[in-house]
Amino acid sequence: MKAMRLFAVALLLLSGGAISTSAVAASLEPPPGAASCSGCHTVSIRTKTDVPRIHGRNAAEIIAAMAAFRTGARASTVMDRIVKGFTENEIVQIANWLATQKEGRNVGQLQR
Ligand code: HEC
Repeated sequence: MKAMRLFAVALLLLSGGAISTSAVAASLEPPPGAASCSGCHTVSIRTKTDVPRIHGRNAAEIIAAMAAFRTGARASTVMDRIVKGFTENEIVQIANWLATQKEGRNVGQLQR
């Protein structure tokens, strides 16, 4: 009986651990649409680009810029069209994720 109870506690602990691990893994996954930004906004600090860098930027800054593109308050070549493909909630999630990202020296090295 005692062994059974121990087993149950161990199972609970294990599943608790599994749940929190998957929650962490999920928060590191890019939210829907976020990967599409990287096609133009490079993650690699080795790449020379005129497209402004957005990885690692403050989330509020990104959200504000996207809102300005949406209304047309800020002139743009492509972002006014891109932002219309996303809901405001999606933009918030993408901005929060981008803010956690770091530009890297080794990212995209293979494409050179
Ligand atoms: C087709 C290429 C392209 C894609 C895809 C793209 N962007 Fe952009 N982005 C640009 C360009 C070019 C600019 C400069 C403004 C303009 O001309 O539209 C810009 C500007 C921005 C800015 C303003 C940055 C600053 O420093 O002022 C933000 C924020 C931004 N993009 C976020 C995003 C997000 C978030 C996504 C993905 C949902 C995304 N962009 C997808 C090309 C792109």
